[in-house]
Amino acid sequence: MINVALPKGRLGESVYAMFETAGYECPAIKENNRKLIFENEAVGIRFFWVKPSDVSIYVERGSADIGVAGKDILLEYQPDIYELLDLNIGKCRMAVAAPRGYHDSGERTLKVATKFSHIASRYYADRGRDIDIIKLNGSIEIAPILGLSDVIVDIVETGTTLRENDLEVVATVVPISARLIANKAAFKFKTKQIEEITAKLKGLVVKNDSDL
Ligand code: PRP
Repeated sequence: MINVALPKGRLGESVYAMFETAGYECPAIKENNRKLIFENEAVGIRFFWVKPSDVSIYVERGSADIGVAGKDILLEYQPDIYELLDLNIGKCRMAVAAPRGYHDSGERTLKVATKFSHIASRYYADRGRDIDIIKLNGSIEIAPILGLSDVIVDIVETGTTLRENDLEVVATVVPISARLIANKAAFKFKTKQIEEITAKLKGLVVKNDSDL
C-alpha cells in the first residue's frame, strides 16, 4: 500500500485527478463527505487529505510515503524529503509587493510582513538588505495598508488580491508550483511502486508555452 498525502482544496482535487488518470483511482474520494482517508486496496493506494502546509510534515515523518506540496512550503520549511517531480500545476509566484508607487530608499531597516519568514530572510540577506520580519498567518496584504510593514512577501497567483488592495508587485522572489515528494526511507523500500507512480504522473504533466 502506498500512502499519499494530498493537499486539501482546489489544488488537491487537480492532483487527485492526475492520480485517477494515472490509474490510481479511489472513487469514494469524490463523495461529498467529511472523511479524510480513502483507500483502494485493489490498486494499492491510500489517500489522506491534509492541510496543504502540513503535507511535507506527514511525508518527512513517514506517515505518508509520498505527497504533493507547493514549492513555497518546501523552500520555507526545508523538509528532509526527496522532491521527485514538478507537476506544473498550482502555479503562482512568491513576490515582494508594496503599496502602489512605493520606493525603498534603503535608508532604514525594511519592515517585511510575511507568512514565509525563511524565504523572505534569505531573499533580503542575498541582497545585503537589513530587514525586520513581521510574521503573520494570513491576510498579509493588509499589513502595509495599516502601516504594520513597508512591504510584504507573499504568494501572488492572479494578482487580484494585490490589485484590490492598491498594492503592486515590486519583485518576483521565486516561481512556485506543486511538487511530488517522497519520504526518504519509503523511497528506499517501496522504490518500484513510487517510481511507477512518478513515471505515470510524469506522462500527464502538461507543459505550458510559458515554460519553454
Ligand atoms: C493567497 C495569498 C494571497 C492570495 C493571492 O492567500 O496569500 O493572499 O492567495 O492570490 P491572487 O493573486 O489570485 O489574488 P490564501 O487564499 O492562500 O489565504 P491567506 O490569506 O491565508 O494567505
